[in-house]
Amino acid sequence: MVVSLIFRKKLAQRVAAALGVTLAAPVAFVGCGAKVVVDSESTGTGGAGGAGGSTTTNATSSSTGPMECEGGWGELSTFLACIPDVGESCPSTQEAYGPVAQSLDICSCLHSVDVGPKPDPSGNGLCCYDITIETVCAVGRPLLAEDGPAVAPVEAARRGWSEEPLTPNVEGLSAEAREALAERWIRDGLFEHASVAAFSRLALALLAHGADESLVRAAHEAALDEVRHARLSLSLAAAYRGAPVAPRGLPEALSLPLGEGLVELAVSTVVEGAVGETLAAVLASEQAERASDPAVRQVLTGIAEDEARHAELAFRVLAFAIAAGGAPVRDAVARAFRDAAGHLPSPPPEPPLPAEVAAAHGHVPRGDARAAFVRAMHDVVMPLGRALVA
Ligand SMILES: [Fe+2]
Ligand SMILES: [Fe+2]
Repeated sequence: MVVSLIFRKKLAQRVAAALGVTLAAPVAFVGCGAKVVVDSESTGTGGAGGAGGSTTTNATSSSTGPMECEGGWGELSTFLACIPDVGESCPSTQEAYGPVAQSLDICSCLHSVDVGPKPDPSGNGLCCYDITIETVCAVGRPLLAEDGPAVAPVEAARRGWSEEPLTPNVEGLSAEAREALAERWIRDGLFEHASVAAFSRLALALLAHGADESLVRAAHEAALDEVRHARLSLSLAAAYRGAPVAPRGLPEALSLPLGEGLVELAVSTVVEGAVGETLAAVLASEQAERASDPAVRQVLTGIAEDEARHAELAFRVLAFAIAAGGAPVRDAVARAFRDAAGHLPSPPPEPPLPAEVAAAHGHVPRGDARAAFVRAMHDVVMPLGRALVA
């Protein structure tokens, strides 16, 4: 974990230097109406299987609204979710569906509110329910549609995106284990592929708002990084599966509105870039630290470095937007950081593999990933966000 700590410190210092700000010592960032989402796995009391934890949130508003479960994509997990009591008594399971769905992060959709209301274990008088969610998101810069992150459908056996000569060690892996690892890298590859569109859209927005050449160029370079990440991830998937794989078309790249104002650009940059890219960098760093397979480790180390640069770009975009738009943008950015503290994205689902095999091939248990997200918010995102709006 020492490597991860150094990675977070270096990332915070690197962005602070790019912004020309001085970081205060990290302080607890619970407050300002936001409550950090930590489940029992994060504190080491739960298993790594994704079930049995609890999510506590104060139901701050989501910028994207609840996502509809399409089914078949993500991993189902059961959590204890807690929302404020807005009436005389806690809503029934049926009535709680809307408020609970609104409280979820951008990477989860609500399958069902199963049992409740139940007593709040934290003693804060919240209304709590056993819920089932589907996790459908990897961290990184998502291509956000109204109903959540958009990714292309995958096409098996199609060439064009998985020809990088990567040879992870598959000796001793069962056919099921190889397929599980292929699926894990396909999911990552599709999110990386969607990030290409997200950065292309950012470059257009920066041009529209008169940003400097360095920002426009960095956005285009980041899009090319994401092309590389998609190719590397899908090449690993192809190596595990023994057959090529590629994304189909991604029509959302054209159909989503770009957003008109600097406030919209800044708020989306907080969620997708400052938070999403920082957490992606920290997660890839943790995965690389644990991966014993040389090919996987090399890919993840490179991705962590690139995502750190993308996080820096996000904070530079925020500095530009605040300088150009003044107080309204600064206030919106401050609100967006506070909201983000209460809506950490869900880590990627667990592949159905023994923990040591998953770790060797680049996976971190969800509880550890959540804990890493909390540390990244505490050590990197929130101190930088506070310095930015100070
Ligand atoms: Fe990426
Ligand atoms: Fe990225």
